[in-house]
Amino acid sequence: MRDYDISTYGDRAAAEYDVLMGGGEAPEPAVTFLTSLVPEGDALELGVGTGRVAIPLARAGLRVAGIDSSTAMLAELAKKPGGDAVEPLHGDFLNLAGIGADRTFDLVYSLCSTLYFLCGQEDQVRCFRAVAERLRPGGYVVLELGSPPYRRMNERQYVDAFQVDADEAAFFLSLHDPLAQRVDRQQIVVDERRTRLVPISFRYIWPSELDLMAALAGLTPVTRQSGWTGGEFTGVGRHISVYRAGTA
Ligand SMILES: C[S@@+](CC[C@H](N)C(=O)[O-])C[C@H]1O[C@@H](n2cnc3c(N)ncnc32)[C@H](O)[C@@H]1O
Repeated sequence: MRDYDISTYGDRAAAEYDVLMGGGEAPEPAVTFLTSLVPEGDALELGVGTGRVAIPLARAGLRVAGIDSSTAMLAELAKKPGGDAVEPLHGDFLNLAGIGADRTFDLVYSLCSTLYFLCGQEDQVRCFRAVAERLRPGGYVVLELGSPPYRRMNERQYVDAFQVDADEAAFFLSLHDPLAQRVDRQQIVVDERRTRLVPISFRYIWPSELDLMAALAGLTPVTRQSGWTGGEFTGVGRHISVYRAGTA
């Protein structure tokens, strides 16, 4: 996608992000799941955004740092009640450079398919390795990710309509490269007065490929489930995948 870099999505989405997510899932089940694995210690969120889960996680007793490439997202995080309990780190989670060479964590997690924001397979492998290097012995990695768009494997372009009213319409316009597992997408809201565009470019990962990336980084699979409160992952919808660093 032309004129797109790692901060474009966050900078465009920041002001409306919580409104966009407003109808989404409440953070409590994620917090309960994460604290059941790691009740205390240091956590790092990759792509923390406005701190939707990081803030209640800090309230639950973990020391939470969040890395994000978008200063606009981090500004929204700072404004929110409890936002000052989350340590903001401005940077790229591709290699976690710049967060302090010796920093390690008991938990590294990422939500809402944020790992897919790294648009190449090599970059995703690199990120896994960087995360593994930052984990303390026995530390956990938790990833919430959507499934690949199975039904769309023959489609190079498609439209998803979300809202069609007399005065407003909301839809996604996607270009799909099934070989590279890449999607370039515009999230579009139009009304009589203006058009709002939130571009997003991502690379989806097959679950088996994800396990291989984790193995290449020396991480061991712990569980994969369909929701924060459990449920078998049957291959469709989102999954929550947990990996663990070896114990020294
Ligand atoms: C879908 S939002 C998720 C926000 C939050 N984690 C949540 O669950 O609501 C993805 C976030 O990742 C950030 N991001 C995307 N690519 C990044 C990168 N390479 N390094 C750091 N942050 C990145 C974006 O700026 C955005 O805030």
